[in-house]
Amino acid sequence: MKNLKLQEIRSEYLEFFKGKEHLVLDSFSLIPKGDKSLLLIGAGMAPMKKYFTKELTPPHSRVTTCQKCIRTGDIDNVGKTDRHATFFEMLGNFSFGDYFKTEAINWAWEFLTERLEIEKEKLWVTVYQDDDEAFAIWRDQIGIPEEKIVRLGKEDNFWELEVGPSGPCSEIYVDRGEKYGCDDPNCKPGCDCDRFIEVWNLVFTQFDKDEQGVYHPLSHPNIDTGMGLERISTVLQGTNNIFEIDALQNIIKAISKISGITYGEDAKKDESMRVITDHIRAMTFMISDSIRPSNEGRGYVLRRLIRRAAKHGKNLGIDGSFLYQLTDEVISSWGKHYTDLETNKDKIKQVIKLEEEKFAQTIDKGTLMLDDEIKSLKEKGSDVLSGETAFKLYDTYGFPIDLTEEIINDNGLKLDRDGFFALMEEQRNRARAARDDSDEMGWSSNESEGVYDGFENEFVGYELNEVDTEITHILLAGKEVSELQEGEKGAVILSKTPFYAQSGGQIGDTGSIVSDKFILKVIDTKKAKNGVHIHLVEVEEGLCQLGKVTAKIDVSRRHDIRRNHSVTHLLHQALKDTLGDHINQAGSEVGPDRMRFDFTHFEGVNAEFLEKVEAIVNEKIFEALEVKTTITDPKGAYEMGAIGLFEEKYSDEVRVLSMGDYSMELCGGTHVNNTAEIGMFKILSESGISSGVRRIEAITGPAVYEYLNSLEAIRNESAQILKANKTEVVSKISALVNSVKEYEKEIEEIKLKSAKDELSDIIDSVKVKNDVSYVTYSFDGVDVNTLRNIADDIREKMGNIIVLLSTVVDGKVNFVCAVSKELISKGYAAGNIVKEVAKIAQGGGGGRPDMATAGAKDVSKVQEALSKLEELI
Ligand code: SER
Repeated sequence: MKNLKLQEIRSEYLEFFKGKEHLVLDSFSLIPKGDKSLLLIGAGMAPMKKYFTKELTPPHSRVTTCQKCIRTGDIDNVGKTDRHATFFEMLGNFSFGDYFKTEAINWAWEFLTERLEIEKEKLWVTVYQDDDEAFAIWRDQIGIPEEKIVRLGKEDNFWELEVGPSGPCSEIYVDRGEKYGCDDPNCKPGCDCDRFIEVWNLVFTQFDKDEQGVYHPLSHPNIDTGMGLERISTVLQGTNNIFEIDALQNIIKAISKISGITYGEDAKKDESMRVITDHIRAMTFMISDSIRPSNEGRGYVLRRLIRRAAKHGKNLGIDGSFLYQLTDEVISSWGKHYTDLETNKDKIKQVIKLEEEKFAQTIDKGTLMLDDEIKSLKEKGSDVLSGETAFKLYDTYGFPIDLTEEIINDNGLKLDRDGFFALMEEQRNRARAARDDSDEMGWSSNESEGVYDGFENEFVGYELNEVDTEITHILLAGKEVSELQEGEKGAVILSKTPFYAQSGGQIGDTGSIVSDKFILKVIDTKKAKNGVHIHLVEVEEGLCQLGKVTAKIDVSRRHDIRRNHSVTHLLHQALKDTLGDHINQAGSEVGPDRMRFDFTHFEGVNAEFLEKVEAIVNEKIFEALEVKTTITDPKGAYEMGAIGLFEEKYSDEVRVLSMGDYSMELCGGTHVNNTAEIGMFKILSESGISSGVRRIEAITGPAVYEYLNSLEAIRNESAQILKANKTEVVSKISALVNSVKEYEKEIEEIKLKSAKDELSDIIDSVKVKNDVSYVTYSFDGVDVNTLRNIADDIREKMGNIIVLLSTVVDGKVNFVCAVSKELISKGYAAGNIVKEVAKIAQGGGGGRPDMATAGAKDVSKVQEALSKLEELI
């Protein structure tokens, strides 16, 4: 048996199946695409379900991958057992209607015994209970003794997801020796002990299971195999469990370094180290695939993993955030194969650190809340913490239930676990329902119903704008008819059509269909499920009937659409170049007036990056790159390095569109012949449309010209108003803004000065009553601050006095009252005075005894209000 490192086994496997004419594909993202039945990818075959059912065409009929996977169903076992993990890599070879059981079994055997040199005696196999065919292959072709071929039932040897491709399987086990075994002398694969470890599952995918649980036989047999990379590493490296294999040991060592704890000395601590080792890989890969912690769906899984790992960090006595540091170890081991990890390194660290910090706060808050609860329970004489409280702590604050239970038990109390788990179950059901509600991509209007079955046409619109052709079918309200009257709206099918039907984000063509008897306006062109082009028309003149016509698209509109479509390809590549390879198209809409492009990215793209992206796209336009179309098969396209391969259903023939050496993408749309035709590219906006998906809206060619003209018009108009030269607009505006500021300052000063001039008048009007000097005065248009200053000035100058001033600004009155110290001690308070005064003018206010302000509405009552002071004295 060879002793290989994890990374080496992966390469050996992919190389081996490449040698068996398999196309090696990169791992798919952990986020399932267009599959509402899954939250995360948990098996090598999961992202390829539609290849098995033929809904999508695989790039090749034989494919091999090493797929990153997450399964959280057994999360509570992680760390406790030898082999459970939430993150793992699955090696797989797949046949889509190509080879079947014989090859799958023979190659698996060859790989294990010849390539990895595992001793044949150590291998056992299982088959589905009545799969005699597989049994015979193992016995007769491979030569395994019958007693080492175990027949197992559906529970063990039938592979399926909730919905989708499934079938009976045959598993290969390695006998690790009696020391791992149980006491049963008949112990063999299928036994629960650790002696026989399953390494490879060969699934003979023959069925497609629907949502009702019905198995529909597939028209063609398939192969889906899965071998856990960590498990096979355990076997080759002769370790006791997956956590002892080379790459995972490196993570454990890094944890030891941070915690100061040696692995293998304390079982409880080992468990925590293993949990962290597993979860750190899961979170690193999830974040790199654009998942962010949140309270639902995938985000919730990620949050739970981070929090769980952080909590185990606490068990090891680690203070503060530490997980983010461990990502270095993951990236240094896995980053060579999964290059995105390197690109996203900083982001991954940042996300983990933030979540760790948030969690620390949660723990602090949760502990406080729990302390209060415990106190009140004790006061009430109760000894059970309700499931509801525990759930609230968990759900709202993210406080882990095991921690709650630990603290509760330490206080001699109990937790209502059943109540808690009932609420958890309710939440799970809600989440499941929400998942089922999520929409599916795809066109499903009436036009795709069976009415078009059997219809055919040829699309000639890549080369021609106009063609002599024939109307072969006419439809009215979804039913086939023989004619359409003038003014009626319906649909027609042409034998040959230059009209592009809406697909791949590109809008359908419009134009006209003309014969000597009628004229049809084509309002839109759509594609039926079978690919036939449906022209939605309105009869402008005459009676529309079957027969010869000339079909012509609106050429200038198509030109605009081509420009906008071609530029999405440049934009896609420029985004990848600027922001990283994780950028993937998540949709697009290409019309004549503008284009919008949706892509996966976890945060807003800042102005600096947007400018860069825009500049690159324009550079590629100005470089006048030749646009070429190559027709090839999907495998050829993949090997050429074309992007966008997994987006749609492809036939055996695909179109690869390249723009110079810069962009290469699979596309069925219509395009410019040279990027120079795009003219120019201008981004209008960048925004978020859902979690992890961004949208750029932009214009090209004539629309940019119009945009420039509209900017020019604004500039001209501004120049006219400013009576300036066009080139001086900016300097004129900034000079204007500066002088306005200066004027405002001057006005303030003038106001203050004139108010002060009035001071002497005011001082002359001081009156005395009951030995109290007082003065009232009303200003106009003076702001409250200035009024306060004036009141202060008067009080200072006159000494023992009550000052009451008013000002009217913007139709409202303000009062300010100042009272000197001596009078305060006699019981006069500015706050009280101003309140009483303002009341008269329908207002209110108050403040300190020495200085107070109030506002009021009734301007006509100002004098009456001011005279109230005399009365008060
Ligand atoms: N789908 C099977 C599994 O995941 C084999 O790849 O085990």
